[in-house]
Amino acid sequence: MELEITQPDDWHLHLRDGELMKTVLAHTAQTFGRAIIMPNLKTPITTVKQAQHYYQQIKAALASDTIFEPLMTLYLTESSNAKELTAIAKSTEVKAVKYYPAGATTNSDSGVRNLEKVYPFIEQMEKLDIPLLVHGEVVDSDIDVFDREKVFIDKHLIKLVTQFPSLRIVFEHITTQDAAQFVKSSSSKIAATITPQHMLMNRNELFRDGINPHHYCLPILKREKHRQAIVEAACSGNRSFFLGTDSAPHFKLSKESSCGCAGIYSAPIAMALYAEAFDNQNSLDKLEAFASLNGANFYGLELNEKKIRLVKQDFQVEKSYLIEKQDLIPLRAGKTCHWRTELV
Ligand code: DOR
Ligand code: ZN
Repeated sequence: MELEITQPDDWHLHLRDGELMKTVLAHTAQTFGRAIIMPNLKTPITTVKQAQHYYQQIKAALASDTIFEPLMTLYLTESSNAKELTAIAKSTEVKAVKYYPAGATTNSDSGVRNLEKVYPFIEQMEKLDIPLLVHGEVVDSDIDVFDREKVFIDKHLIKLVTQFPSLRIVFEHITTQDAAQFVKSSSSKIAATITPQHMLMNRNELFRDGINPHHYCLPILKREKHRQAIVEAACSGNRSFFLGTDSAPHFKLSKESSCGCAGIYSAPIAMALYAEAFDNQNSLDKLEAFASLNGANFYGLELNEKKIRLVKQDFQVEKSYLIEKQDLIPLRAGKTCHWRTELV
């Protein structure tokens, strides 16, 4: 079996920087035409100037025969200045602002502690029609890790949407039935990205045959009923759901550690995994909308002109990638994937 679809984009990607970036960028650009680049570097990208510099670094790290467009984002902090929003509106590189709750995940220390404190900034975003990308979790220590997303909806998202009805929001990497339901019942201003790991795995996969740090990401994998709900949302054809891998590389030593980092590296096989998830659901006819149309439409961008071909054929995933003497372990390392992807 094979199918051809418009070249997809990745609407949520971590590229990092330096040597690591070169490898992960090449893996993404094999398949994807564009990607929304997360700003959570060690020194977060908080200004348009920094974002433009990072953009140039990404462009310079691309192989000369590869066409790929990074779509940049700024990291929202409690001292973000509205001047940056005017600069975003004028820039061609920067497309959105990312909200991380402080302490929620990798390099989130500069994130926001009190969301209402940045409401004046968000009000300007609404006026300028700049999308807000949210890491939708409340990470207070008394909240159960599996409930973080639902608590975010109840405590913050409902308020945010009511207060700023014209603000475009992407609820990133949704993992629960509650989030899927919230997006479905919201206006077309509210969209969500969905990762391949949350479509294919439930929380049992964190503990199968012993604890598996390579399945640890944030938001954490959830129980089966939630997996099914987000699969249903992704495969429904609803324009508010689109592809965002959240591919987030950490070296093996940081993953297999007494305090392992959150993040799953899926870039080399991301489209294969999405095809598998849609195939499992007998919904391959909805894959193009999810992967290649809905995101571009939401961001108001042209569709890619190129096509990719997906061929149902087993292949073995690399066990690891060696980058400056460090191992990077991809999702499904050494195991089988069922869909080959190639640019037409
Ligand atoms: O698992 C994750 N890894 N979730 C995030 O939100 C951030 C990411 C990272 O940057 O490593
Ligand atoms: Zn992410």
